[in-house]
Amino acid sequence: MRVLSGTKPTGDSLHLGNYFGALRQFVALQAEHEEALYFIADYHSMTTVRDPKLRRRYTLNVALDYLAAGLDPEKAILFRQSDIPEVCELTWLLTSVTPMGMLERAHAYKAATDRGENVDHGLFTYPVLMAADILLYHADLVPVGQDQKQHIEMTRDMAQRFNHAYDCEALVIPEPYIMKDSATVLGTDGQKMSKSYGNTIPMFAGKNQIKKAVMGIVTDSNPVEEPKDPDATVFQLWNLFAEPEERRAMAERARAGGLGYGEVKKDLLERVLDFFSEMRQRREHFESRPEEVEAILCQGAEKARAMAAPVLDGCRLAAGLGS
Ligand code: ADP
Ligand code: TRP
Repeated sequence: MRVLSGTKPTGDSLHLGNYFGALRQFVALQAEHEEALYFIADYHSMTTVRDPKLRRRYTLNVALDYLAAGLDPEKAILFRQSDIPEVCELTWLLTSVTPMGMLERAHAYKAATDRGENVDHGLFTYPVLMAADILLYHADLVPVGQDQKQHIEMTRDMAQRFNHAYDCEALVIPEPYIMKDSATVLGTDGQKMSKSYGNTIPMFAGKNQIKKAVMGIVTDSNPVEEPKDPDATVFQLWNLFAEPEERRAMAERARAGGLGYGEVKKDLLERVLDFFSEMRQRREHFESRPEEVEAILCQGAEKARAMAAPVLDGCRLAAGLGS
């Protein structure tokens, strides 16, 4: 089984949603499967990030978050998407078996047009580049959050269409792995936690910044003595860091009344800092050694490229391209 997934570099630190929704499973899967590839989707970030310096910084930050979270270059191939430009060629090959209607139904494109935004071709073609990411390495299993499921279905569709059009088996049809426990993590305002909503709790940031985020979790104005809804955002976030027995006890205390949100937030802050403290140390280790991180990504790219070459050759041959 070959596992593959990617993360778009669009910020300074991944957040709790990214960790519990994706990264944690990446780490578990690298141990369970013989081959795992995890990359930083810097080509994909081009639809939103237009500053080259920022892109480099965000890319390095994802690499640091990967390593901090426990992705291990001995067990998984870690690389930067743009180090394998062959992915752009496969994107082109796939575009001509991709119906316009399929891309018009893509959530990200639909959301942007619904908001009346000027959509560029990069955003429209985003699912094709993502399909190429997956198909170029003959990935069998793609761990993603629920929000990416549609992209994997499109990927399967494109692979089938290509194989059918050229009567070949050049591409492997991947399976999505919708991550267990990846119920949507709520942000501080109660919506889905997302960079684009500005409601995130970062995994790694200054203690004060994390504190500010946790203390800013919205709550109702019920006084301490009143019973509380154990499904309120603050409890859902707290639950991420608690054992089942602790969760049951907390829910009981909430329902009974006499529990203040402030107490829960303080405890949550401690748990967040404690949970990520070892990872934070690992992150600091790599942060002070950027050449080491660069070497890991370059070695990863070499291995990834060796996997990609025969797949792309197979596609070119099937389609009658090249000499
Ligand atoms: P953002 O919404 O902050 O831009 P991304 O879209 O870059 O995050 O998400 C990267 C990965 O993290 C995806 O696999 C996605 O499914 C997962 N993810 C992001 N936010 C959440 C969340 N709030 N809950 C669960 N998983 C999430
Ligand atoms: N689109 C994914 C996201 O926004 C990132 C991504 C790019 C990806 N290429 C991929 C994920 C290939 C899995 C496989 O989260």
